[in-house]
Amino acid sequence: MEKKILIAYGTVAGSTKEVAQAIGEEMENAGALVEIKPVEDVKSIEGYDGLVVGSAVRMFHLLGKTRRFLRKHKKAIANLPVAFFVVCLTMGEEKPENIEKAKGYAKPMLEVKDPVNLGLFGGCINHEKLTDFFGKSMKSVPEQDHRDWNKIRKWGSDTLAKMFE
Ligand SMILES: Cc1cc2nc3c(=O)[nH]c(=O)nc-3n(C[C@H](O)[C@H](O)[C@H](O)COP(=O)(O)O)c2cc1C
Repeated sequence: MEKKILIAYGTVAGSTKEVAQAIGEEMENAGALVEIKPVEDVKSIEGYDGLVVGSAVRMFHLLGKTRRFLRKHKKAIANLPVAFFVVCLTMGEEKPENIEKAKGYAKPMLEVKDPVNLGLFGGCINHEKLTDFFGKSMKSVPEQDHRDWNKIRKWGSDTLAKMFE
């Protein structure tokens, strides 16, 4: 039977949403039924066969709304195959110390459950989309986009396979 997957993402400026959408497309191409929702809109994770939670990183931490999602659904997450991903500028350069830093950002996820897969993806700075107070403070940082769509898409199909292997 078709596997029903929820991809819950935490974003401020939208880049993590686009990563979630690319992962969702790959999972759909592989035959899954996928729902993609902002973490703050998810009421319940009952009725899904698998869960992916993704988050942007700001000021060295997962977004507060992602951490709230993890706390709220902690018990239900225990019963599902789950995968996590983070989107951050640190992963703009994939060197060992940056990978360790990014894994550190993911710690509140890893404390909830051992995932079938952990994605560490480079993020982006798009001045037009940084309209919030803290985002505006990053306007001195040059525009950049480190999202590696091949890596992200492959992670999506690999993750679905790992969830039900
Ligand atoms: C105010 C602000 C703070 C950030 N802090 C960090 C950080 O501490 N570490 C990091 O690796 N990236 C940091 N980033 C980069 C974001 O993780 C990156 O821009 C990401 O793509 C944002 O995701 P979003 O578009 O889904 O909000 C920061 C970005 C902003 C705007």
